[in-house]
Amino acid sequence: MSNMSNIPNVKLHPESWKQIKKGHPWIIKDQYTSSFSKSPFLRAIEKNQKVILLNDPSHPKIKARVWDNVELQASFDINTFRNQLYSRLEDSILNRKTLFESRDNMYLVFGEADFLPGLFIQKLGSVLLIQLYTEAYKDHFKILLKYFKEILIKNFPDTHWDGVFIQQRNHDKITEIKESPWGRYKLPNELTIKEFGVNYKLLVKNFYDQGIYTDMSAIRFKLSSDIKAAKSVLNLYCYTGAFSLYALSLGVEKVTSVDLSKKYLEWLEHNLGLNPELLTENHTSVAQDVPKYLQKTEEKFDFIICDPPSFSSNGKSSSSAFSQYEKLLPLCMSRLEVGGKIALFLNTHSITKNKFQKKIEDIIKNNKLKCHIIKHLGLEQDCPRRKGFPEGDYIKGFFIQKRA
Ligand SMILES: C[S@@+](CC[C@H](N)C(=O)[O-])C[C@H]1O[C@@H](n2cnc3c(N)ncnc32)[C@H](O)[C@@H]1O
Repeated sequence: MSNMSNIPNVKLHPESWKQIKKGHPWIIKDQYTSSFSKSPFLRAIEKNQKVILLNDPSHPKIKARVWDNVELQASFDINTFRNQLYSRLEDSILNRKTLFESRDNMYLVFGEADFLPGLFIQKLGSVLLIQLYTEAYKDHFKILLKYFKEILIKNFPDTHWDGVFIQQRNHDKITEIKESPWGRYKLPNELTIKEFGVNYKLLVKNFYDQGIYTDMSAIRFKLSSDIKAAKSVLNLYCYTGAFSLYALSLGVEKVTSVDLSKKYLEWLEHNLGLNPELLTENHTSVAQDVPKYLQKTEEKFDFIICDPPSFSSNGKSSSSAFSQYEKLLPLCMSRLEVGGKIALFLNTHSITKNKFQKKIEDIIKNNKLKCHIIKHLGLEQDCPRRKGFPEGDYIKGFFIQKRA
């Protein structure tokens, strides 16, 4: 591909154009995409707008992603693409430079929001994890890796990197993982990383279940002053305990962690062991179904974190977190001290923030709960959101305070 004329022109559905104009970068499968060629880049023109697309013929749903909105007369060739790839990678990494000191656990590239559609890169300690949700980078992968390494070495000359994992997320079904060590280093299964001064064990090769939610890290930080002000913290659906250990590190005197999974609670205990300075006598683990725990306990707390999985099962029945809040929120409120705060989350892009807010307000009203929403919580810092792209806005949270 030497110039623009080698890139095939394609027609897009009017709905695709409508979405592109709003900022949405995906071309979803429709009658128009079935006539796309297999060329790595596509070009679409409507009136005075021209877009360059990364083609992804093998993807079952997202057939192409917008790479660039260009001037009608502008040329685009492989060098343009490579220059853009380099500068977008570098911008993404440099935008996060200030976070490097406080966290081993962060995103360096967050896909569509960094104008690198389908490409996510995490820094987990000295290990880097590249996740590809599209095959569109296949032909450019060597150069992508070369640029990425160059940028890191140029901007962080004193940092030691052990290696890169590359994970092709085959449309969320099968995932293969490859290693690209720097030097002779063999990537470990297990790794200890630091987030805000606290150590956590990660199983880096366990790609769906690595032991920490990197996208919640900025939210943990945002809540730090409220957590610190609490005497007691209840961490519901605690997983491996990131919020609990963070609360202990901030000096909270009583931290209770509840999760159905004994495996995750053992992992939490292991994490506690990695942090001998934390006062473990201030911590209690409870292996139980959250609603059952809330019904049974008589304790009250100053701060509750409630981060259920989108779909939860107690072994007998399963329900969505969205509908479960009808029961969960009144239960949480009954365990909260007056003046206390709850951070509650919903982990799905398919329910908008407004719909979730309306639900929470209805629950508050219908149950005559004495509380109000203080603020919204969502993806931020290293996990930015992109206007017009709801799929990338998948964490919705509300911060609620109880009144007398
Ligand atoms: C989304 S993760 C929570 C992540 C955590 N807030 C963090 O930032 O590390 C959900 C957790 O809920 C647990 N879980 C699922 N259903 C449950 C239930 N009914 N009761 C208690 N825990 C449950 C899972 O074992 C998992 O650890």
